[in-house]
Amino acid sequence: MDIHIISIFPEMFDAITKHGVIARAVKQGVVSLRLYNPRDFASDRHSTVDDRPYGGGPGMVMMPDVMAAVLKSALGNAKNDPHVVYLTPQGRRFDYDSAIKFAESSSSQSLVMIAGRYEGIDERFIEHYVDSEWSVGDFVLSGGELPAMIMVDAITRLLPDSLGNSQSAEQDSFVDGILDCPHYTRPEQFEGESVPAVLLSGDHRAIERWRVKQALGRTWQRRPDLLNAKQLNAEQLQLLEEFKSETGEQ
Ligand SMILES: C[S@@+](CC[C@H](N)C(=O)[O-])C[C@H]1O[C@@H](n2cnc3c(N)ncnc32)[C@H](O)[C@@H]1O
Repeated sequence: MDIHIISIFPEMFDAITKHGVIARAVKQGVVSLRLYNPRDFASDRHSTVDDRPYGGGPGMVMMPDVMAAVLKSALGNAKNDPHVVYLTPQGRRFDYDSAIKFAESSSSQSLVMIAGRYEGIDERFIEHYVDSEWSVGDFVLSGGELPAMIMVDAITRLLPDSLGNSQSAEQDSFVDGILDCPHYTRPEQFEGESVPAVLLSGDHRAIERWRVKQALGRTWQRRPDLLNAKQLNAEQLQLLEEFKSETGEQ
């Protein structure tokens, strides 16, 4: 996947390009990630990228001419048809389904992501150049860098070959419209609590059944909205009923 990111703090992206799954995907060529600093495209000797808002008020606004110059540079390097994304709390909420859609179009589409700062970017730039606006949640962060990293991470882990164990993404929360089951590792006893006996049984069918039951049960407990949106089959309904009677909850 060909990704270009515009940010006045490009060094922040070391957090994903130097560590973990994304670093490995970059090293293996599954993802190429290029960073652009708007300050390099400013026209004054102070590398100014922001100015006071027309109409007054607090904060500064990122200047449209500087942002257009840096964007044109990124677009010139895009290997595929570019899709320009602006990270903003006013955008559409990014979720698992949107990550899937970006991952599916990754071979034919380059992603150009713009991280805002201050009060955001001059609206005329957004209207002219941005294809879609995305939010990572109903809260306001100081900049679009963390949201951009969240999107890159969530999309990259869905790309074929990016995860060491290709099965691990398939078992994650949301993949099948429900949450993941709980996980356990050694030691067998921890602060008086044992690992559920079925996981030590070696009975793979029973283990799989237990995992699906727990996944359905905790989705029912924590995210009933997900269950309401999903059509459960007869076996899943039976497992959920078992979970409810075992936990004594209805
Ligand atoms: C302080 S915020 C500006 C918020 C803007 N004045 C508003 O209220 O909509 C600065 C930048 O952080 C980014 N940002 C902040 N919260 C975000 C969120 N929830 N999702 C995506 N980007 C966000 C955007 O790029 C934004 O331009």
